[in-house]
Amino acid sequence: MKDIWIIANWKSNKNISEALDWISQVGPKIPKQDNLKVVVCPTFSALSEVKKAITVGNFPLLVGAQDLSPFGIGAYTGEEPAELLNQLITLTILGHSERRQNFRESDETIAKKTQQALGNNITPLVCVQNEEIPVPEGCKLVAYEPIWAIGTGNPDTPENANVVAEKIKQQYSASIEVVYGGSVHSGNVKDLVMQENINGVLVGSASLDAEEFIKICQVVSE
Ligand code: 13P
Repeated sequence: MKDIWIIANWKSNKNISEALDWISQVGPKIPKQDNLKVVVCPTFSALSEVKKAITVGNFPLLVGAQDLSPFGIGAYTGEEPAELLNQLITLTILGHSERRQNFRESDETIAKKTQQALGNNITPLVCVQNEEIPVPEGCKLVAYEPIWAIGTGNPDTPENANVVAEKIKQQYSASIEVVYGGSVHSGNVKDLVMQENINGVLVGSASLDAEEFIKICQVVSE
């Protein structure tokens, strides 16, 4: 059975108490299935408390970040290095289009961040907006997120997402796993993950609501 990733990208949302409330609702309801990998990516400020709550509750939930530093530890004010984050996270989102647009992140910076993640035992999930954006060396988990589908309620079709995922695998390696992101919700997730080349979803707004996120996980596991 193929791996299925369900990754919640909270973006810049939820204070610590809202984050813990979500964990206490979602944690006990996640279907326990070997091939199902459910990840929550809070803000940096909530990471530590979220990690603690998941450990205490023994929930089948992994913790991810939404970014990390292209540098190691040292004099890089404001940056969160992989070497320190790896006590809290197992995955990090990198190169999200919101970072490319708002912070002018280049493919080169994203490649450096990928190397930092890989060198520190963190799985890099690199976002590409189409099949022409480069996948950095060593990256084995890619999110196809077309910009026009993000936060618009206008997702790509499962068939087209499958074609793009297939092209990415053909271009780099068949062992790359591709997830889809952009207006995913409990009503469209099943059709997406049923596609041959799609290994899951990266969920933005629909992941903020605990009940809706539980529904997404349940629909996928059925
Ligand atoms: P929405 O699910 O809100 O469209 O956001 C997608 C996204 O950017 C996830 O990284």
